[in-house]
Amino acid sequence: MEKRRIQIFDTTLRDGEQVPGCKLNTKEKVIIAKKLELLGVDVIEAGFPTSSPGDFQSVQEICKSVSNTIICALSRAVDKDIETAGLSLQSAKRPRIHTGIGTSNCHIRYKFNSTPEKIIERAIHAVKYAKKFVEDVEFYAEDAGRTENIFLAKVCENVIKYGATVINIPDTTGYCLPEEYGNKIRFLKENVKGIHKIILSTHCHNDLGLATANSLTGIMYGANQVECTINGIGERAGNTSLEEIVMIIKQNSHLNLFTNINTKLIASISNLVSECTGMKVQANKAIVGINAFSHSSGIHQDGIIKKRETYESINPKDVGIDKSSIILTARSGRSALAYRYKKLGYFLNQNALDLVYSIFLKYADKKKEITDMELKTILKKANLNKEKNNQVLHTNNTNSNNIRINVV
Ligand code: KIV
Ligand code: ZN
Repeated sequence: MEKRRIQIFDTTLRDGEQVPGCKLNTKEKVIIAKKLELLGVDVIEAGFPTSSPGDFQSVQEICKSVSNTIICALSRAVDKDIETAGLSLQSAKRPRIHTGIGTSNCHIRYKFNSTPEKIIERAIHAVKYAKKFVEDVEFYAEDAGRTENIFLAKVCENVIKYGATVINIPDTTGYCLPEEYGNKIRFLKENVKGIHKIILSTHCHNDLGLATANSLTGIMYGANQVECTINGIGERAGNTSLEEIVMIIKQNSHLNLFTNINTKLIASISNLVSECTGMKVQANKAIVGINAFSHSSGIHQDGIIKKRETYESINPKDVGIDKSSIILTARSGRSALAYRYKKLGYFLNQNALDLVYSIFLKYADKKKEITDMELKTILKKANLNKEKNNQVLHTNNTNSNNIRINVV
C-alpha cells in the first residue's frame, strides 16, 4: 500500500510566538524560518501581519529569505486584516492567506453576538476576498473542537465552494478527546461535498495534554496536514509539538504515513527556538527534553550499556542527538559507575569498584547528580593504590569535564 504524505504546517512563528514573554524580533524570525525550511516543513506560518508593524515586517523579510516553502500569513475574517496579509506576502514565491472565524455556539453568541447564517456569510466573504490576493487560501473554523459537526460541515462546504484550498479544524481550547476529534475529521471527510479536492488540516491545543494524540487521530481518520510548533510552544499549554507528531509517524511505519521532515535537524532547531524565545524545554519533554535519552537508574543503565534498544525505542541519532547519556545518581549501579570511570580513563577491578561504589553512594545520597570532578575526588578518597587487592589502572581514554557522559 502506498504511503500517504502528511504535510507539516509549522506555526512556531505565529501561534508559538503568541506566548507571554516569547516575543521574537525580525532577525530571529528569519533565522528560525530558514532553519524550518531546511528541516523540510511544507508551510511556515510567518505571523499575523495586521497585529503590529513589526510582525508585518517579519512576514515580508521571511518571504524574501525563504526559497520554496509556502509562507502563510494569518488574518481574521476582516477585510483590513486580509489586505494586510496579502500585502505582507507580496514577495513570497508561494504565498498563502490563512483566514477564518469562530464557528462554535460559544463564539457565535458571545464573541460575535451573531447568528450561524451570518457567520457563514462572513466566512464566504473572507475566502472570496482573500482569493483576490492569493490563490492559496486556508480557512480556519476557530473552536471547531466545540462546533457541532453538522454546522461545521456546512461551513466547510461553503468555503470550499468559494475557493478555499485548505480547511483547518482547530481544537482551539484543547477540548476534544482523540476519538471525538478523529470522528469529527471522518464526519467531514464523509459528508462535505468537495472535501477531497482540498487539504484538511488539524490544529490542536494542549490544554489537556492531548494535542499530539488528537492530531494523530485526526490524520489517521483522513486529515492530511498537521499544524504544530517546535517544542510544542503556543497559547496556554501550547500546540501539537512538531517533533512528537513527526517522530510518531516515522516510528510507526504500519500507519503508512510519511512527512518530508529531515528528523536529524530536530535537536538543533529545538535548541534554536528555545534560545531565541527564552522558553526552556522541560527536562522530560518527549524527543527534545534533556532527559529524553538519559538514563539514571541502575537497571536501565546496565541494560543500555549492554544494548541501547533495551531501554530506548527511538534512536537518538534519528533526531540529531549523538548519543544517549548515563547519569550518575544514588539510583545508579556498579556497571554505570565502572562505565563512567572508564570514560575518564580509569579501569577499576572488582574490589576497587566495590570500595569506590560504597563511597560513591554516600556522595550520591546527598546530591542529585555526580559529576566527573566528584568521581575523581571519590577515587582519591578510596585511596586505592595503598590496598593490595584494589587496583585502578589508568587508560588513555579521557573524557573529563562532561557532566553527562554519552554511551558509546
Ligand atoms: O487555535 C486556533 O484556533 C488558532 C486559529 C487562529 C487558527 O490558532
Ligand atoms: Zn491555535
